[in-house]
Amino acid sequence: MKGIILAGGTGSRLFPLTKVTNKHLLPVYNKPMIYYPLHTLINAGITEIMIISGRGHAGHFLELLGSGMEFGISLTYEIQETSGGIAQALGLAASWADEEDVAVILGDNIFQDNVKDDVASFEGGAKIFLKAVTDAHRFGVAELKKDQVISIEEKPPSPKSNYAVTGLYLYDYKVFSIIRTLKPSGRGELEITDVNNAYLQKEMMKYAILKGFWSDAGTFDSLLRASILVQQYSENKQSDS
Ligand code: DAU
Repeated sequence: MKGIILAGGTGSRLFPLTKVTNKHLLPVYNKPMIYYPLHTLINAGITEIMIISGRGHAGHFLELLGSGMEFGISLTYEIQETSGGIAQALGLAASWADEEDVAVILGDNIFQDNVKDDVASFEGGAKIFLKAVTDAHRFGVAELKKDQVISIEEKPPSPKSNYAVTGLYLYDYKVFSIIRTLKPSGRGELEITDVNNAYLQKEMMKYAILKGFWSDAGTFDSLLRASILVQQYSENKQSDS
C-alpha cells in the first residue's frame, strides 16, 4: 500500500499564523505538524509516500523532509494549484498510485493509534476510522445502526452520533474513478465525505473505532489541544520507561 499526505488548503482558520508559513509546518508540541501524519504512515509499514501541498511554501516541505532517506522511506511531492477540496487533492495522486491501494491522511490530523494491522489486513473497498468526540458538528459524522455505518454527513448542525470520521482513510484504486464523478459541494470543494458515501452505497465500507487520542490541528483551539495531547503522551511514555 502507498501513502498520501494531503497538505494543501489555505490554513485560513489559523490566520495570521499561516500568513508567511504553511499550516502543516507549524509546531505541534516539539515537531512540525506534518511529522505526525508522516509517522502514522511510516509506523503502519508504508514506505512510498506522496505529499500533496499547495503552491505557497511547497519548497519548505522539500527542505524539511527531503527524499525521505532520513526516515527510511521514499517521498514524492505534488502541487495542488488551488484549494479544490480534500478529494480534489487526492485525485492528483491517481497516476502515481498506479492502481495500488492507498492510505490517505490529512496533514493536520494527529493520531496515537498504530494502524499497521488495518493496513496489513486491508482487502479492498474502503476503511474509515472513527473517534467519539464532544464537538462532532466540526467533522464528518458517521451514523451507526446495528454496528454498521449507514451514512456520513459533513459538518451536520445536528449530528446523528458523536462519532467523528477522522482524517485517515484506506482505499482501493477505485477511489480515483469515484473522485472523477464528484461534483463540488456548497462550499465549492470536492468532499472526501462524498467519496466515503459512494463506498457506503456500494457496501464496500468498513470502519474501526480508534482507541488512542486523536485531534485535528486546524484551528487555534485544536492546535493547542493537539500539542497538549502529544506532550502528555510523551511524558507518560517517559515515566513508563
Ligand atoms: O479532521 C477531520 C475532518 O477533516 C473530517 O472529519 C472531515 O470529514 C473532512 O472534511 C475534514 O474537515 P475540515 O474542514 O476540517 O478539513 P480542512 O479543510 O481543514 O482540511 C484538512 C486537511 O486537508 C488540510 O490540513 C490539508 C488537506 N486539504 C484540504 C483542502 C480543503 C488539501 O490538501 N487540499 C484542500 O483543498
